[in-house]
Amino acid sequence: MAKLSKLYAHEILDSRADPTVEVVAILDSGEYGVASVPSGTSTGSYEAVELRDNDPARYLGRGVLTAVGHVNSEIASALVGKEIQSVNDIDAQLVKLDGTPEKKRLGANAILGVSMAITKALASLAKIPLYKYIANIAGNDQILFIPSPIFNMINGGSHGAGNLDFQEFHVIPNKFHSFAASLETGVVIYQTIKKLLARRGAIHSVGYEGGFAPNLFTNLDALEILQESITETGHKPGIDVELGLDVAANAFYKDGRYSIKDRSSPMDSAEFIDYLRDLNGQYHLRLLEDALAEDDWKAWVSLSAELATVTTIVGDDLLATNLTKVKKAITDRACSGAIIKPNQIGSVSETIEFTKLVRSANWKIVASHRSGETNDTFIADFAVGIGADYAKFGAPARGERVAKYNRLLSIETELAQK
Ligand code: PGA
Ligand code: ZN
Repeated sequence: MAKLSKLYAHEILDSRADPTVEVVAILDSGEYGVASVPSGTSTGSYEAVELRDNDPARYLGRGVLTAVGHVNSEIASALVGKEIQSVNDIDAQLVKLDGTPEKKRLGANAILGVSMAITKALASLAKIPLYKYIANIAGNDQILFIPSPIFNMINGGSHGAGNLDFQEFHVIPNKFHSFAASLETGVVIYQTIKKLLARRGAIHSVGYEGGFAPNLFTNLDALEILQESITETGHKPGIDVELGLDVAANAFYKDGRYSIKDRSSPMDSAEFIDYLRDLNGQYHLRLLEDALAEDDWKAWVSLSAELATVTTIVGDDLLATNLTKVKKAITDRACSGAIIKPNQIGSVSETIEFTKLVRSANWKIVASHRSGETNDTFIADFAVGIGADYAKFGAPARGERVAKYNRLLSIETELAQK
């Protein structure tokens, strides 16, 4: 058993030029862990609270010195010098210290940073890789596979150029013999999309997650480009390389109606479900994430009843990695897959608890980054450790995205060693 000898935090930048929290946890044995906290742009309203300073004199109000201060003072005072029993125990202490259900006093960004840094330090102390340590906590005695990558090739919604309603247009090469082969397929398709967009004069820039943010007119245009690029690279869309969507429907849901550019008038929930059924019929989506707004609960139940046998209905903003929400969703059969984002709940062990619930319902598990990321690769180890079906880390481009895919490559190579 080790004691925590030092714990401190400071402010660093994420990939969107926003400040975030980095935490260092040092054990008396000398092992240490450093972790930084991701941050969302299209955040669901049921997420744990990310504390921002709201001081307009610094970083346009986006500073995180309050959360940093909580690590350096209150949290450090509570934990430093004490023996660490387990990650579970540390997280329970942090939750108690905060005292609010949504971690709004100390900040989910402060708490998660500490939780991740201590998890890393304990993995070092145990002299095992982080993914194995997480597998142990999660009760997975065997690491069987590397999750299939979900590449976010075209960025729309609040991540893109403002012209596409849907937030993420995914390419999912999930029938390949190795992660390395899936990654290569994703990269070749990514480069092909670039070529096709250039040919159409539609190339614009890249969005928050490294996917293209092109000058296209409709959501269907984006899906067509993806299909074309899959075919052009010698693959069969819907067979060996599939498509997926993160609709992030909260963004265009207002007064009970869904407004998208592809339709001249707003649709009510039943009409939008009809639209989604047709869309799925046309593109055979592997995953359909946040296809409806987070509070349109009954419509989620109808959508799942209709489509969950042919595609995976994934809840992100709907579930917000929240234990109460997922229990209700399982009872109501509101979806058939869940996005897992540690910063939506704010600690490592609660995220694992959420994962266990999702697994018990036989749903698909998608371990996910956030649009605001650092080069921390914790989520890659986490995805492997919990046995996620999919890893959604953005496009295979941009340092903070590639760092995570590269980590999966390293783990795959490591696991192949005898
Ligand atoms: P976010 O986007 O990190 O901005 O929430 C990712 C997602 O919606 O899956
Ligand atoms: Zn999402």
